Amino acid sequence: MMESQAKRLALEQLYKDNFKPEVYLSTYYRTLDVEVEFFLGNLHHFFFVSNGGQHGEGDGTCRTRQVEPEVNDADDGGEKAVHNNETKKKEGRRVLEIGSGPVPISMISASRWSEWIVCSDFLEQNRQNIKQWLTMTAITSTAPGRHDETWLPFFRYVTELERAESETLLLDRVRLSVRAVVPCNVLLTDPLMNDKDAAQNADGCSSLYDVIITTLCLEFATLSVDEYSSAVGNVTSLLRPEGFLVIQGALGNSHYWHNNHQFPSVTLSRAVVESAIKNAGCLVVDWRELARCCSPQDKPADHSAVFYCLARKNPIQTTTTTTK
Ligand SMILES: C[S@@+](CC[C@H](N)C(=O)[O-])C[C@H]1O[C@@H](n2cnc3c(N)ncnc32)[C@H](O)[C@@H]1O
Repeated sequence: MMESQAKRLALEQLYKDNFKPEVYLSTYYRTLDVEVEFFLGNLHHFFFVSNGGQHGEGDGTCRTRQVEPEVNDADDGGEKAVHNNETKKKEGRRVLEIGSGPVPISMISASRWSEWIVCSDFLEQNRQNIKQWLTMTAITSTAPGRHDETWLPFFRYVTELERAESETLLLDRVRLSVRAVVPCNVLLTDPLMNDKDAAQNADGCSSLYDVIITTLCLEFATLSVDEYSSAVGNVTSLLRPEGFLVIQGALGNSHYWHNNHQFPSVTLSRAVVESAIKNAGCLVVDWRELARCCSPQDKPADHSAVFYCLARKNPIQTTTTTTK
């Protein structure tokens, strides 16, 4: 067996045997810290302030998405029609999260924009944890992540950003919007393995995603810059032309500690991420980063900063043929 393949299998085994959702949550999501606020704030900005890229982003190079024509034949000043149009648009949009882990918080802002969210993760134990939280079958458990208490501060934070009435509304909104929690492996050219729950949309037809989000996953699922770049390409293949890719992660990180094991990371820089995105046929439209503000005791990882990168997949290239 080739050395690189052996290392890959060893990494998969490390995750399967030693990644414990409850332990991960009690280490990395014990409190709402400034770095998680940064991630939540970026997603709020993308889905709520810029309306999923429809209001333009970053350097202005991203084009306005095509929207359906507004219908306005009511005598209520158009309020009902605007509401109906917004509901219709929300129903048709599809969002995929890659590598959700046992963490449902990226979906808070996504569920403001879309009613069709699919979560995915490599590990069965993480998918089970999310499913249990979504259906609250383990409501009596006190384990982290199995009840709303764990996530209330995170939901409260986004509730305040949205100036929404209560965090309960947002909790319900997420539970209604997540349609499936499916297996994924970003090392495969088809990361969702043609899963039928993931592939279907509201009409039961298969289609690509409008937005793909991934937070703190790709650098931990891969073992080299080349593999990271391939993973970005694999994930991007699930995105429709002109759809948006939101990658959030850690810069300068070589590992994190979890459950008394050291989990490796590809050490990312802005140049590495941007080059992977370009190779995947996308254009970077926004980049933000935040210097590390957590102590090694609070977060046993060696990152120097966290980042948000918004990219847009290039439109399908049409070739013009000339006849002589
Ligand atoms: C550090 S955790 C991040 C979890 C969560 N997104 C968060 O923000 O806390 C890394 C995640 O990557 C997932 N993962 C590891 N290898 C993967 C692979 N080959 N494909 C997809 N996900 C993978 C793990 O199961 C785990 O949930």
